[in-house]
Amino acid sequence: MNDVITLEVIGQTALITVDNPPVNAASAAVRAGLVALFDQANDDDAVDVIALIGAGRTFTAGADIREFGKPPVEPTLPAVCNHIESSAKPVIAVVHGTTLGGGLEIALGCHARVGVSGVQLGFPEVNLGIIPGAGGTQRAPRLSGVVGAAEYISSGNRLSAEQAMDANLLNVLVEGTPRELALEYAEKVRSGDLPTQRTGERVTTPDAEGLESVRAAVTARSPRLLAPKRCVDAVSASDLPLTDGLARERALFDECAATDQHRGLVHAFFAERAVQKIPEANATPLPIEQIGVIGGGTMGTGIATAALLAGLPVTLIEMNSEAIERARAAITANLDGALKRGKLSQPRHDSIFAGALQFSTELDALAQTDLVIEAVFEDMTIKQDIFQKLDALCKPSALLASNTSYLDINQIAACTQRPSQVLGLHFFSPAHIMRLLEVVVGDNTSADVVATGFALAKRLRKVAVRAGVCDGFIGNRILGHYRKAADYLLLDGAHYSQIDAALESFGFAMGPFAVMDLAGLDIGWATRKRQAATKPQAERDVGVADRICENGWFGRKTQRGYYDYRVDQRAPHPEVDEIIDAERKAVGITPRAYTDSDIVDRYMTAMISEATRVVEDGIALRPVDVDTVFLFGYGFPRDRGGPLHYADTLGAKELVARIERWAQDDPHYWQVPQLLRKMAQDGSQFADLNTAQLPHGLRV
Ligand code: 3HC
Repeated sequence: MNDVITLEVIGQTALITVDNPPVNAASAAVRAGLVALFDQANDDDAVDVIALIGAGRTFTAGADIREFGKPPVEPTLPAVCNHIESSAKPVIAVVHGTTLGGGLEIALGCHARVGVSGVQLGFPEVNLGIIPGAGGTQRAPRLSGVVGAAEYISSGNRLSAEQAMDANLLNVLVEGTPRELALEYAEKVRSGDLPTQRTGERVTTPDAEGLESVRAAVTARSPRLLAPKRCVDAVSASDLPLTDGLARERALFDECAATDQHRGLVHAFFAERAVQKIPEANATPLPIEQIGVIGGGTMGTGIATAALLAGLPVTLIEMNSEAIERARAAITANLDGALKRGKLSQPRHDSIFAGALQFSTELDALAQTDLVIEAVFEDMTIKQDIFQKLDALCKPSALLASNTSYLDINQIAACTQRPSQVLGLHFFSPAHIMRLLEVVVGDNTSADVVATGFALAKRLRKVAVRAGVCDGFIGNRILGHYRKAADYLLLDGAHYSQIDAALESFGFAMGPFAVMDLAGLDIGWATRKRQAATKPQAERDVGVADRICENGWFGRKTQRGYYDYRVDQRAPHPEVDEIIDAERKAVGITPRAYTDSDIVDRYMTAMISEATRVVEDGIALRPVDVDTVFLFGYGFPRDRGGPLHYADTLGAKELVARIERWAQDDPHYWQVPQLLRKMAQDGSQFADLNTAQLPHGLRV
């Protein structure tokens, strides 16, 4: 028929195969092919059963997401599913791999479904800010019941093959290849061993109370998001006649598809994949089979846990036996947690303790490791000393990485004889859970070594983002800037609890002051002391955090920080309010009232300004790299797509106007980045930079 879909008549079976790599997305060509080939099979007198399969790794993973936002091309997917369902001849689908979204909707349009062992089924549309739009919300409840369907559709959770059997989405679950099973089960249709029925002809039993409790759970889980609620609304229309239910689904789908939430989530989907497109993508990763970790603190033990979970043996170095015991206890707790959450099997858990995890107080124990990750205190002299020693004792092929959050990788590399094998691997705490890994590339880091960092991230199931060298790389450099905006808001009149609440309503999991309390205020205190000498004279001083630390209040770990955790989870802390008052008086500030929207505007504009400079300076390859760092490392609301995707929703002109307005009060802090000014003039967007031809010849 065309390149992406074929029909073969084998005996009396019409075998239709979708072959649209990599995931058989239901593109315009696939949809047109399906309609034409189902017509052809129905018109062919030699055919009495039609079987639909996918070639390659999956049946189909759904609608082609790249077509979103473009003018629709006929036939639409809902029309295709209806067309398949209306086939006069019985139709079976043999589903394998990840049968998702529109792919599952196509399967539900068929008259019976054969699952290949290991298949996963689900409706991930909600993760893209939409609802299933090709009949999924109407046909799935007819098979699974309204409450079960509302739960899996509104959560986006994938069902295992066994769960899909329980949910009645599959008629049978068997081993085999899709092609063989298609022919075998077509025969069973003929013999009556596999009954077929049009899903749309079934009826549902209404359950208003059950749906209400799903709606309540969905609202509690994601109060700001529209799509999960609309999923429940659509499922609740499944007791209508099919055509009416489908019309209701379409209206709700269109409503969701018109939102910024949908555009942000689609951006986030592609962002995670786009960051893998780096100049070193074609270099050959070096083999990593043994990892050394230096330092058994929170970061070191988290990194060791992440490596062990990925099946990599680890040798961890600490100063003395007490520190080793503390590290062992922390890793054991992490692994026990992973076992409980089902992230680790009991045999794998046991094998780790049977030899995959070693400890030593001697660096020499790392002589044969392929990669050493240093995770000690943020002190350049200590790090350089360690790297010098590692350089002398590690095998020549070993890579040396630092988990530094701020320090200059070039200076660290310079004290070794192998600067091309030195890189930054900046993990985020807790390192065995947070998915971001900044791969920091020094002036001399070789392409193979960068590629190795990316390959390691993949193995650890992390999202790697390439970062250049500067104080704080991508994430912490931007954080360092906008954190000051939060401090200035605090000093000028907003309460820390109002700032946190405003940003949490915007979508951050936690506001900045609650985050600081969680991370430990002593960390920022140490950084400020380190940077005090180089701090520009004109920069405003906010002494509040220092005063809090001077009281020994370092946040949650000491039960007091900005908030008081002794009585409640997070109660305002009157003594901190007094500190703030005193600091305001000391610098002659009369507090002003800020609205929540003022707070969000200032905070976000500050974040966007520095993010722009990070792109301008080439520290991030593209705006999408900054977005990914914030989505996976800083709790940025996924539906807003990241700071620079969000910036595009505001427009460069508006952002420049804001900065210029606020610069009148504080010209040192608020400066318009050149790139933003240029964008305001020529009307371009950050999205254009993501897709433009970049100097290093890449396209996203
Ligand atoms: N449309 C277009 N491209 C897609 C796609 C889709 N539905 N799904 C995956 N791709 C692309 C990816 O962007 C990637 O492209 P790249 O190589 O150029 O970066 C390539 O396929 C391979 O994808 P992954 O790297 O993600 O491969 P994995 O093997 O890790 O994962 C997957 C495969 C589980 C299928 C994963 O890609 C996935 O979750 N895809 C999205 C599925 C989805 O959301 N489907 C619903 C679509 S919306 C819909 O159907 C609406 C309907 O109701 C009307």
